[in-house]
Amino acid sequence: MRTLQPQDARRIETLIERMSLTEKLGQLTMMAAGHTVTGPVITGHSLDDIRSGRIGNLLNLIGAAPAREMQRIAIEESRLGVPLLIGLDVIHGHRTLFPPPLAEAALFDPQAWTLTAREAAREAAADGINMTFAPMLDVSREPRWGRTVEGPGESPWVGRRLAEAKIRGFQGADLAAADSIAAVAKHFCAYGAVTAGREYASVDVSDRSLLEVHMPPFESAVSAGVAAVMPAFTDFAGIPMTAHAGMLRGRLRRELGFEGVLVSDYNAIAELIQHGVAADLVEAAALALAAGVDIDMVSGAYLQGLPGALERGWVSAAQIDESVRRVLALKMRLGLFENPFGRGAAPEAAAALTERRRLAREIGARSIVLLRNRGDALPLAGGMRRLALIGPLADAPAEMRGPWWCAAQPQSQVSVLEGMRAALPQAQILHTSGVDIAGPDESGIAAAVELCDGAEVVVLCLGEAATMSGEAASRAHPGLPGRQQELAAAVLQRASARAIPVIVVLFCGRPLIVPSLAERASALLAAWFPGSEAGNAVADILTGRTSPSGRTPITWPRAVGQIPLWFGQRSGGRPTDPTGGPFSSRYIDEPKEPLFPFGHGMTYGRFTLSQLRVTPQSATAAAIVEVRVDIENQGSHRAEETVFLFTRRLKSRVAPPTLELHGVGKITLEPGARGTLLLHLPIVELRSLGPDLEPVLEPGAVEILVGPSADRASLLSGRLEVVP
Ligand code: NOJ
Repeated sequence: MRTLQPQDARRIETLIERMSLTEKLGQLTMMAAGHTVTGPVITGHSLDDIRSGRIGNLLNLIGAAPAREMQRIAIEESRLGVPLLIGLDVIHGHRTLFPPPLAEAALFDPQAWTLTAREAAREAAADGINMTFAPMLDVSREPRWGRTVEGPGESPWVGRRLAEAKIRGFQGADLAAADSIAAVAKHFCAYGAVTAGREYASVDVSDRSLLEVHMPPFESAVSAGVAAVMPAFTDFAGIPMTAHAGMLRGRLRRELGFEGVLVSDYNAIAELIQHGVAADLVEAAALALAAGVDIDMVSGAYLQGLPGALERGWVSAAQIDESVRRVLALKMRLGLFENPFGRGAAPEAAAALTERRRLAREIGARSIVLLRNRGDALPLAGGMRRLALIGPLADAPAEMRGPWWCAAQPQSQVSVLEGMRAALPQAQILHTSGVDIAGPDESGIAAAVELCDGAEVVVLCLGEAATMSGEAASRAHPGLPGRQQELAAAVLQRASARAIPVIVVLFCGRPLIVPSLAERASALLAAWFPGSEAGNAVADILTGRTSPSGRTPITWPRAVGQIPLWFGQRSGGRPTDPTGGPFSSRYIDEPKEPLFPFGHGMTYGRFTLSQLRVTPQSATAAAIVEVRVDIENQGSHRAEETVFLFTRRLKSRVAPPTLELHGVGKITLEPGARGTLLLHLPIVELRSLGPDLEPVLEPGAVEILVGPSADRASLLSGRLEVVP
């Protein structure tokens, strides 16, 4: 990130000296402009608030023209001419949508993560936006929680890599460039651990979980130079994060060294009253500022409450100045003082948009996880003449957008029906939805069953609506909603009677609990929400134009009662007895194993791994160990294999997890080809937190485990000795 020059710092100080209290509080305020704004409108406020300096930042303003007009008013008509931060949730694209973060995580490819963030930044910046409330880095082992779709999944290691990659993409090489936008790492911290997966519920995790699981992605975000951080809505063991000085000033600023801007979540400062820790806006504002929150997003608490808090001596003028200084510094880093109209100055070239759609198609296809493929039901045989495309998600372009669609128009996504028709122009594609996504109507099931007769294959598109995951979308029953299970059962029954393969494509923002589909479908795919090019991406996978390569970044439960579930859980003193013996860690009414392990995903190749080599076999803290494995594609399709590098410390003072992820490698091989994959393991990464929660590298034996998923049985094992 561009460091400020001494003259910039002087300019900031001069500005602060000239500012009235109201103008300062304006800099600490961000107001909503209305999500679908067609002209310059600020919800509940007037443009005079920008002119008077009472509003110094906006969010949810879509369109280059209104953004420019707001910026012009701030620059030309306010007394001090300070430019606005204009923020938006550019989570997985802006006008062109890519798959949401959980789906993108399935790529296990940091370069791809950077590319899509870069493209999203370009599109958003062309609309005058200079800040995105992303990346979301909340590790989630909780499929009931709707926001699982917005984050990296269950692994803090993936969270770290996603943080670095996304921040690189959004902020670019130069934050001041006209196509770069400030990233906001959110939601600090442990929001993914909401009680029972219920949105906005309390969080209460141990310090060890906080440090081992939830903080690491934020640590990486800070190291990557993230411009801003957003505290979570939730309370952390009773203290709302928005008012948590220990977490914000302590852990985030002091321990991680974060110097950027802290922007509250939407209305979160006023909600301190609802949390029960503040009596009114004055107290709420004082608590948030004291905790180190710089910008109040929409609650108006800073504007209304801080003057009173200042009078009562609950906050100091110096604290207010400190926050204003940070906000101005960010505006400076964004280049807004020198070139306030740089972003949104010119529309993008048509070629850029075409290339972006191509990328969306590629990333959409690569995010799809092939969970099952019985008897090589996929890819579809060439020369297919008649195909039945059934289900409420088959012709649902708007749903393909997923949870955050920003400026994407509902109809600008390619439906599966459209994609399949384009991919198989010679085939007759019969379509009916059968049932709605949700709702009790079963009257269309009979017609759907009829459609199977005479089809060579049935493709069943099932799952959630886009709004069933994301914020405020927790589900106690994260299976197929409405009557989709009934539709699937009827179709599977008829198809099996006629020996017709049934391919089930799931659209979802979480692993859906679908054990019976996994058992009965010929093939099962998690397509998540592929974004703007959804239908083409799905068609690419089904027809074999692209061999599937996505891997689930979250353990896929077979029953709600298994949640929370993740790979590498500590074994305890009575680990699961594989022979089902009593008094071992298990359920008496459900297998302990997930439906699909973390990292699971099939390809159209057939890979075998052999000859795991670890060199050197004994290493000190400074070493980087090389781990090699031979891979052969014994199948008949060119495909990409993904290989995970796990470790297991055999003994340490704190019970070690049974698997820890340290790396991922990929190799593409033609049929019959062999190759060797090299993975690097820096020994320092084997540090863990000792009993006192301090990082320590304990000498001793470490098992090196390499393979296609976290399923223990699929991993090759080697050994390494860590020496002092
Ligand atoms: C609330 C969400 O929690 C947050 O992630 C988002 O950035 C803000 N709303 C702004 O839309």
